[in-house]
Amino acid sequence: MRQKIVAGNWKMNKTLEEAQSLTSEIMGMVADEVKGAVKVVLCVPFPYLVTIKNQLGSSATIFVGAQNASQHDSGAYTGEVSVSMIKSIDVPFIIIGHSERRQYFGEDSKLLALKVDKVLAAGLTPIFCCGEPLEIRENGTHESLVKQQVEESLFHLSPEELKKTVIAYEPVWAIGTGKTASSQQAEDMHAVIRKHLASKYGNEVAQSISILYGGSVKSDNAKELFSQPNVDGGLVGGASLKSREFVEIVKSI
Ligand code: PGA
Repeated sequence: MRQKIVAGNWKMNKTLEEAQSLTSEIMGMVADEVKGAVKVVLCVPFPYLVTIKNQLGSSATIFVGAQNASQHDSGAYTGEVSVSMIKSIDVPFIIIGHSERRQYFGEDSKLLALKVDKVLAAGLTPIFCCGEPLEIRENGTHESLVKQQVEESLFHLSPEELKKTVIAYEPVWAIGTGKTASSQQAEDMHAVIRKHLASKYGNEVAQSISILYGGSVKSDNAKELFSQPNVDGGLVGGASLKSREFVEIVKSI
């Protein structure tokens, strides 16, 4: 059985007070029935990590995550946050390679491979994002682009390292647009990714990797998406900012 994960990516939203309210609402609503069946990860802005981590206490269901980390260990990199800093505050998950990082901050596959290495070396879990822009989907080369993204940033890992990695497929055209990939489009790409992992690492390793779908996941499409055999959960942006909506998505797993 693969680990089911629903991660909320809060991006650059919320004041501290709002973040604390949202967290306590989510904590109050994540019902007993989902406990154990799914890991919920709240990927909050850096300044709130410690506070939200403390607020969650020793929850075995809800965890905190970071949205990015530097490829450097330490030093004169003004404004950056290192993996060891994130580790030192006991935050177990870090999103790596979100399409907004690729698009607005010029992060490429080579850099993301370095970041993934740092996260794994620290014993933390990277949530590695991949996904094609609209023009690539339209010209029909989306499968080869996503395979290439996975290959360039993950294929240098040992099987043991890969097993500790979570992958999120997020078609760029579906992020924040309200235009979700159909459950069939998601399933098809997840199967392509898993098959590609199997070609390098073998079926057993490939079958053990959680692959999340992201891109306009909502309470009214989550069940259908999560019911696909190769979809192991979601990475949720906009809908993770509303407690009721997010918890409905969690319950859809
Ligand atoms: P969205 O964002 O759910 O708002 O489309 C998903 C993401 O960017 O992770």
